[in-house]
Amino acid sequence: MNIAIFGANGATGRMLTSHSLTQGHKVTVLTRQPRFAVVASQNWNPGDAYPQESPTLKVVHGSVFELDPVLRTLEGINAVFSALGAHSPFRNENVLPRAIPVIVQAMQQTGVRRIIALGSAGALPDSLARQPAWRRWIAHKVIYPYILKWPVYEQVMQYRVLSASDLDWTMVMPPVLTHGPARNSYRIDGEALPRNGKSISRADVAQFMFQQLNNSQWVRRGVYISN
Ligand SMILES: NC(=O)c1ccc[n+]([C@@H]2O[C@H](COP(=O)([O-])OP(=O)(O)OC[C@H]3O[C@@H](n4cnc5c(N)ncnc54)[C@H](OP(=O)(O)O)[C@@H]3O)[C@@H](O)[C@H]2O)c1
Repeated sequence: MNIAIFGANGATGRMLTSHSLTQGHKVTVLTRQPRFAVVASQNWNPGDAYPQESPTLKVVHGSVFELDPVLRTLEGINAVFSALGAHSPFRNENVLPRAIPVIVQAMQQTGVRRIIALGSAGALPDSLARQPAWRRWIAHKVIYPYILKWPVYEQVMQYRVLSASDLDWTMVMPPVLTHGPARNSYRIDGEALPRNGKSISRADVAQFMFQQLNNSQWVRRGVYISN
């Protein structure tokens, strides 16, 4: 399969890139970084030479806010991963509200239909329906309106744009992401964050996102994932 990855330099995006390449897919990434830093194999370590473009790895330089590089990233592509995000949760970087409409427009122009996007458990009003009342109260009164105001805003906008599109989208919605190893065991729920779900490793999320390439169960839906 030919896969495009947005956010490939990020913590989760690197894992998606690594999975895709090691599973034998061809990958195109869009990056603003002059030095491309994607982990191209499971054995890559910080300090190793950066992987170069290869027959299976194409690098497009540019920003996801601009249509032209996004269109070039989607040339010949069958499916898209997005693991985009802002650098800081404490200011309005407005990444997803700018990026997702451009990606959707470019997918519609190029006829690419499948996108699997990294979201967040705070994106929808019913996200916390399975949580204890005290936890819902703290999240809705303190955490979402103040501490995570901008990340929640970004994710709400991402959900709105994807769900208003006619694409085959899936938005994968975890709680706190960790750098821990994959446990290969997690809970999935299409309606709300699993009860007392607090965190999950990026490794498990990337693995689940990767599996969605061959799974139609969550097409045109958000899906919660948690330990
Ligand atoms: N942190 C958590 O606990 C948590 C929990 C739930 C959900 N999330 C969601 O997960 C996502 C972040 O995941 P992560 O931590 O794995 O990502 P990350 O390490 O923050 O990486 C984000 C990626 O987005 C890229 N990006 C941003 N703006 C771009 C632009 N204009 N053009 C091209 N690339 C751009 C960055 O590229 P550069 O390298 O060029 O900057 C980077 O590769 C966010 O959407 C966040 O809301 C996070």
